Amino acid sequence: MTTTTRPYQSFGPSGGDSASLEKLKAMRLPDLAGKSVLDLGCNEGFFCWYAWAAGASRVVGVDKEDKWIERARLRCPAVEFIVSDWREWASDEQFDVVILASALHYADDQEWLLHFAMSRVAAGGLLVLEIGVANGDEDQFWSAKRSIDTRSFPTRRKIEGILARYAYKYVGLSVKQEGDPVARWVLHCRCRQPMVVLLLGAGYSGKSTLARLLSAKGIDLVRFDDFFTGFLSRPGFLDENLREIFTKFNPLLQGDKIIVEIFESPSTVQSFVRCLLPSSPPEILVIDGYVPAKFQRGFIEEVKKYGYVVWSADCQSAEIWEDRDGLLNEFIVVSDNFVVKTDRIVGHIDAVLISDKGLTISGWGIDPLDRSPLSGVMLKSGDYLENVLVLRQVMRKDLVERGYVSEGAAAGFDLFVNSDSVFFRLYETEGADVFAKTVEFIGLHANNVAGKLSLTQLPSVGG
Ligand SMILES: C[S@@+](CC[C@H](N)C(=O)[O-])C[C@H]1O[C@@H](n2cnc3c(N)ncnc32)[C@H](O)[C@@H]1O
Repeated sequence: MTTTTRPYQSFGPSGGDSASLEKLKAMRLPDLAGKSVLDLGCNEGFFCWYAWAAGASRVVGVDKEDKWIERARLRCPAVEFIVSDWREWASDEQFDVVILASALHYADDQEWLLHFAMSRVAAGGLLVLEIGVANGDEDQFWSAKRSIDTRSFPTRRKIEGILARYAYKYVGLSVKQEGDPVARWVLHCRCRQPMVVLLLGAGYSGKSTLARLLSAKGIDLVRFDDFFTGFLSRPGFLDENLREIFTKFNPLLQGDKIIVEIFESPSTVQSFVRCLLPSSPPEILVIDGYVPAKFQRGFIEEVKKYGYVVWSADCQSAEIWEDRDGLLNEFIVVSDNFVVKTDRIVGHIDAVLISDKGLTISGWGIDPLDRSPLSGVMLKSGDYLENVLVLRQVMRKDLVERGYVSEGAAAGFDLFVNSDSVFFRLYETEGADVFAKTVEFIGLHANNVAGKLSLTQLPSVGG
């Protein structure tokens, strides 16, 4: 800046060195009505004056030169003007909008000044930066001789390195000033907010596979499925509101019903999202869980309240999985007795054998999403839920030929229900009808997440 008494800023036709109105336009300030604004290196207060005129609720200008601040105060008494070196200005107040224009190159430590300016930005606020950027691809400050002095300007790579921890955007070129050794740019910078990517689509879209892949890359993952299964082992982690809903249904099998019930009331949505989100937000989080389309807006709004930038990812290839599902279900429906059919796991019961040791159930089951065999099975009747031992895993050529599983995957199984088991006794003493009406057959796929195999046909007792 000039050391003569010629003004720098231009208020109206009695112009200074800088075309202030043009610079103001280039800076693309947001709507300032009701906002608090700080201008570091405010000079005669042109931008402070504009902020006040635009309805800002509080405006503060800081400059180390008395002579500029005196004039600024005369021009706009409503603004608080402070004579101070920015290094010595002790306030820790934060502002919705901070302006640092044509001032960075005056700092002894430009990196410090940038971080300081960002530290004055309130949550959700904006730093408007107008700076000279030197040419060249090196990570350095470039020293440039001007008619009045010699100053350092960061290269693009240097400035991007300093700003890497923030969210920033090049808004465009600023006005050119006579004698400028480098081009001036306007950047808008914000503090980074945590991000959440929502995978809320229906089953078979591939969302869980995508979620697993992202998780394997180190991205934090929250899955509704884990939430549902977690409830069985740690019911205490839910609040009273949710516990009531979770106990009304079976969290392993009826997650969709639980979700619908939760979304019926805003207070349970609030509780659900509070329990779901980690207590300290990671930089990026993926949420994998089916939320019916009509509830998604409510879910997103609730997640946003925790300060997340919300991304919603839709699968554009979901129909592939829907076709596959149709094919499998058709096959299952046309085949003979002991059929199992489900929203997540498909399979077939080939035989049920009873002996004095217990019950042996033979069949096959897969998760059509990734074509993996079942990893376990549970039986359920009323309040009883029991893990069933898989006696044998069996290779099934017929399934490989149909393309349901890949070569080598043992999708067939023999299950054994011990004669001490409630299920065996139900079967043995109450007869086949009772078994068919009351027992559900639950397949678990690779990650121990349940899909339901409802036994829709009654097995006849064989020997
Ligand atoms: C080129 S002028 C820019 C003024 C205004 N921001 C604009 O763009 O119109 C730079 C301003 O920064 C002020 N300044 C320079 N070093 C400073 C420091 N260490 N602390 C506070 N203000 C400083 C100068 O007094 C001067 O008013």
